[in-house]
Amino acid sequence: MGHFATGVCVVTTKDKAGTPFGLTANAFASLSLNPPLALVCIDKGAQCYSCFEESKIFAVNVLGEGQEAISRRFATKGTEKFAGIPWHKGESGVALIDGAISHIECKIVRSYDGGDHTIHVGEIIRATTTGGRPLIFFKGKYHRL
Ligand SMILES: Cc1cc2nc3c(=O)[nH]c(=O)nc-3n(C[C@H](O)[C@H](O)[C@H](O)COP(=O)(O)O)c2cc1C
Repeated sequence: MGHFATGVCVVTTKDKAGTPFGLTANAFASLSLNPPLALVCIDKGAQCYSCFEESKIFAVNVLGEGQEAISRRFATKGTEKFAGIPWHKGESGVALIDGAISHIECKIVRSYDGGDHTIHVGEIIRATTTGGRPLIFFKGKYHRL
């Protein structure tokens, strides 16, 4: 799998109280144009796992080439993930990380079991982009285009 080069995202969601949660993910894919759907695969062991069920909302923050440190932070368990990281609330109330090259807000419309992960299919409710250059992940390492 490591030979499949991907972009890097932080997938954010929230709990019942609106507290932001998020994790680094590359299991993100475009699924359908009409209706506009995207999917993410979330580890059942992730701290934020239950928040997806609770809020039925997520946002994909596509990281730019200068955001490797943010990717590392959100891939580390037990850290204060949002501390010192500039973000703002999207239309759906979920955290959007400043400087990400795209923000894609989704409402979960289906969830499927996928072994130790759950596949969440989201209807895209809002998508914006700054058009910057992406961070790349390939063979376990970060790269630039
Ligand atoms: C490049 C990269 C891609 C990742 N992709 C995913 C993914 O698609 N889904 C997932 O559940 N975890 C993925 N992870 C692992 C999570 O980011 C990591 O386990 C995270 O700490 C889990 O969140 P938690 O701290 O809330 O438990 C990825 C990690 C890295 C470094």
